[in-house]
Amino acid sequence: MTGLPLQTSIPRATELLEAVCGHLEEGLLIVGDDGCVRFANPAATTTLQLPADAAGRRLVHAVSDHRLAMLVETCLGSAAECARELVDASGERYVMARAFPLGGAHGPVTEVAVVLRDETQLRRLESVRRDFVGNISHELRTPIAAIQLLVETLQEGALADPEMAPMFVSRIGLEVSHMSQMVSELLELSAIESGQLSVRVAPVPVTELLVAVERLRPLADERQLELRDEIAPDTPSVLCDATRLGQVMRNLVHNAIKFTPAGGRITVTAGPGDEGRVRLTVCDTGVGIAPEDQRRIFERFWKADRSRQRDGEGTGLGLAIARHVVEAHGGRIAVDSVPDEGATFTVELPAAVDAN
Ligand SMILES: Nc1ncnc2c1ncn2[C@@H]1O[C@H](COP(=O)(O)OP(=O)(O)O)[C@@H](O)[C@H]1O
Ligand SMILES: [Mg+2]
Repeated sequence: MTGLPLQTSIPRATELLEAVCGHLEEGLLIVGDDGCVRFANPAATTTLQLPADAAGRRLVHAVSDHRLAMLVETCLGSAAECARELVDASGERYVMARAFPLGGAHGPVTEVAVVLRDETQLRRLESVRRDFVGNISHELRTPIAAIQLLVETLQEGALADPEMAPMFVSRIGLEVSHMSQMVSELLELSAIESGQLSVRVAPVPVTELLVAVERLRPLADERQLELRDEIAPDTPSVLCDATRLGQVMRNLVHNAIKFTPAGGRITVTAGPGDEGRVRLTVCDTGVGIAPEDQRRIFERFWKADRSRQRDGEGTGLGLAIARHVVEAHGGRIAVDSVPDEGATFTVELPAAVDAN
């Protein structure tokens, strides 16, 4: 494939090329047949972390990754285009380098041009997508296998057993509701991630946000957990979407209930935060979260060691959704926990400016 020839004078051509190279997303590096750097555009300088005095220096001295110098050498020697992937020592950055010879058509190769494309982001997205599909399949396999087993047991005679049949059918119902919960959370998450989350903010009194939490009181009672709230009298109203924030608070309290053994306590507090914010916390006396896991719990599908879970009904999506919703409001969510002592989730949101 060939392009169109550049129709301009030579000094103007240099100026044009420099301007274009300066704006290219790809790095462009030109190395002479003496192994010295002749040119690097800004993207190449950033990608390779070239020192400021790299021009005129030998490439092997200017760049720590010797594979790049080898690529240039191969290209010079073979007078043919070649490519290789450069991965930095931490394994966190991937750069695709393509080298092609210059001047070879009419004589010996005098320079090699290297085009560098940073593929880190692309790789990360690929791996996120792979994990995502893997996780969904894994999460669906468990309830599907359970349903399959229950149906087989019913078919093999349990259907005729007046005591067993209703029990199995209600178990199937539970598995189905777990799957439908997961599907609706996934849809919500994908709507959020594709930028379709519409938050309609209005001043909402904290007590209104905690109405959703109150609905969990029967569950807390059933699990023999004390559920109480402490709302500071000077708490401003929150500038938020009441339904969505109510859901977030409900999810946090539901988690606290799930991960706190009987006899424990769950406290929801509200009060003024820093810089015109409202601070809400959900504090429990449960199993807590190991320090190395605290960073990860807001990732989708992330769940701590299953053996510590009292019931396996969670999807691991609740906190991922909570983080998105809170951040869409310009707020923050964080966790603090001492394993075996409990966890505290803190949500900070913009306060509504007082009307009077
Ligand atoms: N209050 C809590 N105490 C201990 N662990 C928690 C608490 N809240 C969340 N976690 C951990 O974070 C994980 C992710 O929570 P979440 O996203 O709400 O998913 P799910 O509730 O579906 O498991 C939970 O599976 C649990 O391991
Ligand atoms: Mg949850």
